Amino acid sequence: SSNPAFALQQPRKASYNEDENGDMEWKKLGFGPVSTDFMYSMKCCEDGKFVQGNLTHYGNIEFSPFAAVLNYGQGIIEGLKVNRKEDGRLLLFRPDQHALRMKMGAQRMCMPSPSIHQFIHAVKQTALANIRWVPPPGKGSLYIRPLLIGSGPVLGVGPAPEYMFLTYASPVGNYFKQGKTPLSLYVEEEEVRAFSGGVGGVKSVSNYGPVLKALVRAKTLGFSDVLYLDSVNKKYLEEVSASNIFTLKGNVISTPPTSGTILPGITRKSIIEIALGLGFQVEERSISVHELTEADEVFCTGTAVGVAAVGSVTYRGTRFEFKVGENTVCQALGSTLVGIQTGLTEDKKEWIINI
Ligand code: COI
Repeated sequence: SSNPAFALQQPRKASYNEDENGDMEWKKLGFGPVSTDFMYSMKCCEDGKFVQGNLTHYGNIEFSPFAAVLNYGQGIIEGLKVNRKEDGRLLLFRPDQHALRMKMGAQRMCMPSPSIHQFIHAVKQTALANIRWVPPPGKGSLYIRPLLIGSGPVLGVGPAPEYMFLTYASPVGNYFKQGKTPLSLYVEEEEVRAFSGGVGGVKSVSNYGPVLKALVRAKTLGFSDVLYLDSVNKKYLEEVSASNIFTLKGNVISTPPTSGTILPGITRKSIIEIALGLGFQVEERSISVHELTEADEVFCTGTAVGVAAVGSVTYRGTRFEFKVGENTVCQALGSTLVGIQTGLTEDKKEWIINI
């Protein structure tokens, strides 16, 4: 690359070297913001196309206080993980799917979006430039956060005159502080996450602020996270704050359909494919909260969360418990997925991009 910031990175070895981040305590990684070395940015627009992407040193960004994203929430996020294989290669999981999802979200939020190629290029550049922040095999991942925002000023409600696409990164371990301990979910009945015709089906930045109140309340009560119900009947399972939900009964795996209010998770979609391949029956259908009384297992999926076992769900004061631990379907599906993502299991579906 002719980019000077990237050139700085070229001499770095492609394999993990203990000395490069010798003071980094990988084991202590949770899911928090860690400043890394570089970020990649691109601006828009002339005729709806993003141009002039480049790497710069990681740092704060400056906007007008009138920026559309700050005032009216015109923004879309993505999130994908880069893993380090035993041989030192970096592995990206289904970046094309993330690029496509950003494109869909951008359309909903009336924003131009980078092309699939531009998106993947930005993610690769960010991963390579921050290679020393990719944890050693088995110790975590480098989480890449692509962000598409209305950066130009507005006052009347309308689309921004300028957009910025940024990708930056943070090394991550477990999403939940409790690590791999099964989750205890609290069924939220007052607040809803999404509604028909809204933006629940895209990764709008505006989807996450509104879940904080219920999340903090549930955590104060000792729960790991919130399980949302549908806004109309307050009866059907929707999703958790940052992950999709699945139930298992016998040989049948069920998950709510992505018909507008549910985020179409890439992990969700991958787990469905893996489960079908392993001979499970998979149903995408509405799941009544009352069906939890009969479920054998419940689990959550997400890029950040991974595949997380749910030990209990509390609904109107009743705690339903599910099978967790060794020999569960959740564990089999999770380890198959992680195997593919970390290069330990053959990638028959061509989900991995080696960089
Ligand atoms: C992800 O799973 O990657 C997400 O983006 C969820 C999140 C808001 C942390």
